[in-house]
Amino acid sequence: MQHRDNELRSLAWEEVKKQKEKVESDPYRLNFHHMPPAGLLNDPNGFVQWNGTYHLFYQWMPFKTGHGAKFWGHYSSKDLVHWQHEKIALAPSDWFDKDGCYSGSAVVHEDQLYLFYTGNVKNEAGERETYQCLAVSEDGVNFEKKGVVARLPEGYTAHFRDPKVWKRGDHWYMIVGAQTEDLQGKVVLFQSENLMDWVFLGKIAGSGEHNLGEFGYMWECPDLFDIDGEDILIASPQGLEPEGMDYANVYQSGYFIGDLDYDRPQYTHGSFTELDRGFEFYAPQTTEDDLGRRILFGWMGVPDQYEADHPTVANQWIHCLTMPRQLTLLNGKLTQHPLKEYEAMRGPVLLHSSISIENDQKAVRGIEGRSMELSIELEQVDDQFAIEFYQYAALSYKKRDQILTLSRPHFQDKSRTEFRRVKLEDDLTQLRIFVDTSSLEIFVNNGEEVFTSRIFPQPEVKDLLFTSLGCTSFSIEQWPLSGFI
Ligand code: FRU
Repeated sequence: MQHRDNELRSLAWEEVKKQKEKVESDPYRLNFHHMPPAGLLNDPNGFVQWNGTYHLFYQWMPFKTGHGAKFWGHYSSKDLVHWQHEKIALAPSDWFDKDGCYSGSAVVHEDQLYLFYTGNVKNEAGERETYQCLAVSEDGVNFEKKGVVARLPEGYTAHFRDPKVWKRGDHWYMIVGAQTEDLQGKVVLFQSENLMDWVFLGKIAGSGEHNLGEFGYMWECPDLFDIDGEDILIASPQGLEPEGMDYANVYQSGYFIGDLDYDRPQYTHGSFTELDRGFEFYAPQTTEDDLGRRILFGWMGVPDQYEADHPTVANQWIHCLTMPRQLTLLNGKLTQHPLKEYEAMRGPVLLHSSISIENDQKAVRGIEGRSMELSIELEQVDDQFAIEFYQYAALSYKKRDQILTLSRPHFQDKSRTEFRRVKLEDDLTQLRIFVDTSSLEIFVNNGEEVFTSRIFPQPEVKDLLFTSLGCTSFSIEQWPLSGFI
């Protein structure tokens, strides 16, 4: 299949060349977020550090701004800030992956990089087939496909994908997102001694398992890792109904804290908590780096959620990844933190002052920028406080009920406003906000909550507006951010 592989790779780059001018003309291009060179990007894949280099792959459809037979695009970096686009890692060129090299993960073994991914196949009858596949690299750039290493076990539908692999003791383990024949979303576990031969151990978690009732018809992109002795399971369940302020997007991503008994096997766990409260966040993946940090990238998008209505589609590209975030466990909750390395992107501080909005409704103007970081320490909030972004989106806080709300125009019906909300555990005291042209990431109270969203204000509008009911006082620092991607 070498011929087909070469053909697909050159078709993809021809398409990138053809669309380059258009993509580069787009005012919503990002400075410091990973975006596709053209076409559609979705999940982060194969995130790993190897010999001092971080490798980050992504689901890529080069030929259109919709989903289809995915490639693995590839970025690499020495410092998580300056990134280089590498050649295509995987193309959907073989019988076992011809309709997509779907999501997966990477591990390092005997000085080689192993990529595990799902081969998506639609057969002649139009039915889906799924294969868990392996590709190996000696140089981190060229990957040799080794073919299928695990097949679909009995009792599951072909919605069986997104292998995440790790080592524990003498064994390798792989979890896969799955759907049972009675349409329950699950996570299943395989074991291997050599990364080539995998034994199916069974389901470990999912809808109807342990203390969960009905909890979705499919679980995508599972990830399992240890922080401070706790087994954290991340998953992206599909089919949850909105519940109060929760599960407001079409599909969700969240985590459980628990304990994986490898022998039974079974995962016992607490409740499901969403990782992000914004409009666009899905299918995150983590790795541990050589500083012992657990770092997460997410997709700043949600499948089937107004994808065709993003204005960038007119310029032949769509979606980006989130900034990388360090995960820590604090008081039984995962918190997310921008990486220390990102301080290298800051230009000279633009603003460092204390602001008090004394009278009701008085606004503060004059803070501007579409590629910047803001750090805000709230000293006093009497009643309500809001930041309006570029006459488009707004973050507002009501002290009475400790609810923080992000609003933006509905992507389809611009006369309507949409909301995402969270109730904080304590008063709002701290915000770190990163704006990158058409993306907004808001870290709340030291990463206790995060709102991640795409925003599409008029490109020339650059100003923020701060308003208050009652008195609000805060100190604020602002840095311009330059881009390195
Ligand atoms: C999640 C997902 C994965 C799949 C990939 C295909 O967004 O649907 O389950 O492997 O995207 O691009």
